[in-house]
Amino acid sequence: MAETRVIVVGNEKGGAGKSTIAVHLVTALLYGGAKVAVIDLDLRQRTSARFFENRRAWLDNKKIELPEPLALNLSDNDVALAERPEEEQVAGFEAAFARAMAECDFILIDTPGGDSAITRMAHGRADLVVTPMNDSFVDFDMLGTVDPVTLELTKPSLYSLTVWEGRKQRALSGQRQAMDWVVLRNRLATTEARNRKRLEDRLNALAKRVGFRIGPGLRDRVIYRELFPFGLTIADLSPQVRPVPVSLQHLAARQELRALMHSLGLSAYSGETMLAAQ
Ligand SMILES: Nc1ncnc2c1ncn2[C@@H]1O[C@H](COP(=O)(O)OP(=O)(O)OP(=O)(O)O)[C@@H](O)[C@H]1O
Ligand SMILES: [Mg+2]
Repeated sequence: MAETRVIVVGNEKGGAGKSTIAVHLVTALLYGGAKVAVIDLDLRQRTSARFFENRRAWLDNKKIELPEPLALNLSDNDVALAERPEEEQVAGFEAAFARAMAECDFILIDTPGGDSAITRMAHGRADLVVTPMNDSFVDFDMLGTVDPVTLELTKPSLYSLTVWEGRKQRALSGQRQAMDWVVLRNRLATTEARNRKRLEDRLNALAKRVGFRIGPGLRDRVIYRELFPFGLTIADLSPQVRPVPVSLQHLAARQELRALMHSLGLSAYSGETMLAAQ
């Protein structure tokens, strides 16, 4: 469609929270009434793809209807495709992407930890890149390097260069609007004030240097992971859809998700069900 927006969730660092953020963004967009395609480029792990397969199975079993995305695979067997030559993966991605562009308002692309040809291509097509990172210098290292003695920022590192390349590709393909890039900290704990402040300073310095915005973080909460087997997120919970007891934590998580959508410029899509505490 003419106005299809492409959102890529990326970070070369494994386990940063990409798939978790991806499925939460998708469900929030769905409740805002958008048609959303999901393409999971993590051909082996298939976390987001598995999530929406779980959703289908759970809804079937419970005879409930909830909004679902158009979940697109790159082939009949993406786990096998992971072992195939790069050209075959690229062809699979092109086909899925073309279909998603034709049919949907948003394309949400989840990417694997590490680097691959299809991941780089996806970054070259992103209107918006969302990068979750754990609140740790280990995760920061994929974005920027700090001096081991002074901890001052020295230079951008691998993943920042991938996004930079994506920006260049996008400009070369004639896209006039610049790519937006939002980095957010994930799995925030309450007890790490000193580490957080140090990291915050470096992140602010890097944001200016390589051009990203810093979004609000998500805390480490069980609710962000415990609904995975059902293919549900907090955006789905309602008096009818309640596979776990609802608590005040869930209301706080909803608030975090809303703040995240707002910071991504997607406030119109923080629509969700009524969550009545019991
Ligand atoms: N905010 C959060 N609160 C609680 N658990 C979280 C949160 N974010 C992520 N997790 C958990 O952390 C782990 C890693 O998250 P996830 O799989 O989303 O990361 P990823 O970046 O997609 O990893 P990979 O690089 O392997 O694809 C998972 O067990 C997930 O459930
Ligand atoms: Mg993942």
